[in-house]
Amino acid sequence: MSHEYFNPVRSVCGAGALSSLPQVLADLGARRALLVTFPEARSLGLVRRVEQLLGAQLAGVIDDVKPNPDVAELRDVYDDFWRGGGQAAEAIVAVGGGSAIDTAKALMVATASGRFDEMVAALAAGRGFQPAQARTLVAVPTTAGTGSEVTPWATIWDRGAQKKYSLHLPQTWPRAALIDAELMLSLPASVTLQSGLDALSHALESIWNVHANPVSDTFAVAAVHEVLDTLPRLMRRLDDLALRDRMATAALKAGLAFSNTRTALAHSISYEMTLRHGLPHGIACSFSLPMVLQRATGQRGDRDAVLERALGPLDAAPRRLAAFIEGLGVKTRFADYGVGDLEAEAMVAHALTGARGRNFIGQALEAAA
Ligand SMILES: [Fe+2]
Repeated sequence: MSHEYFNPVRSVCGAGALSSLPQVLADLGARRALLVTFPEARSLGLVRRVEQLLGAQLAGVIDDVKPNPDVAELRDVYDDFWRGGGQAAEAIVAVGGGSAIDTAKALMVATASGRFDEMVAALAAGRGFQPAQARTLVAVPTTAGTGSEVTPWATIWDRGAQKKYSLHLPQTWPRAALIDAELMLSLPASVTLQSGLDALSHALESIWNVHANPVSDTFAVAAVHEVLDTLPRLMRRLDDLALRDRMATAALKAGLAFSNTRTALAHSISYEMTLRHGLPHGIACSFSLPMVLQRATGQRGDRDAVLERALGPLDAAPRRLAAFIEGLGVKTRFADYGVGDLEAEAMVAHALTGARGRNFIGQALEAAA
């Protein structure tokens, strides 16, 4: 069977990788860069660090990125940036978790009018748009999990409409990712756990996926092994740079896996759990993994073989996976989150019909049942 794998992102990994930012920008031909980051980046010294690295090359700083960026928060930032034609910067450097990187992806592509509402209308109508201009993105993740640094997708929330949109264009691939575990040392336990489970979910979701291929499988299996081995130890030693580095690499591999497959049922379920029940993404997309694994098992022989490489004998794998997640303090049943059996059934049925749910290998059989 023929298959194809594509990922255009240059990744620079290792403690201190942020120092290569000036050279990476020079290699991309970008003379001026805008920093997009989260509010605490200033007190953590991250903004100062980038200011020192870039000097006069730094065109500006946007440091008020909120978690799970919403259209209501993005509108002004976007309109301000493109009102000036975005001339001030040839590149955007996103430093932060998925929210900072996703905000930068929304910001980097100009609509014809330069107005954000034009993008939202296109996303809401389910159609892409041809950017009038685009900027170059360098992503510097400060969490180990999102994978956004090696994918073209951005999740944009519209809580007013109880919806989430997925922005993805050929222009929204980052050109480079600087994966520097030193930047992750100050992450609190809660974010370390949530992002680590997000990475585990990305890896597994790329295996029980109709778009899986042998290359994505290789990245995914390695990522699962590394997360299962590293995350519990890291939770006990948050200041261990070697463990931070190993989790960062695991999350990168999971990102490289799902950059070609997208996610599947567990993420499709997560969007409702986040919108309706307020669960953080990393918990919302991982609590259901044992249940989804149970549904995936036995659907396709080739997928069973890869799942077994990742998780060991499949008869006991859902139980072991649940024990792993619960061992980290995360409950794995809908009822634990106040979702009753009927609501859970309806949520899963609805999730199977969503864009990500349709990537799940059990989709056709489940829908027919
Ligand atoms: Fe995710």
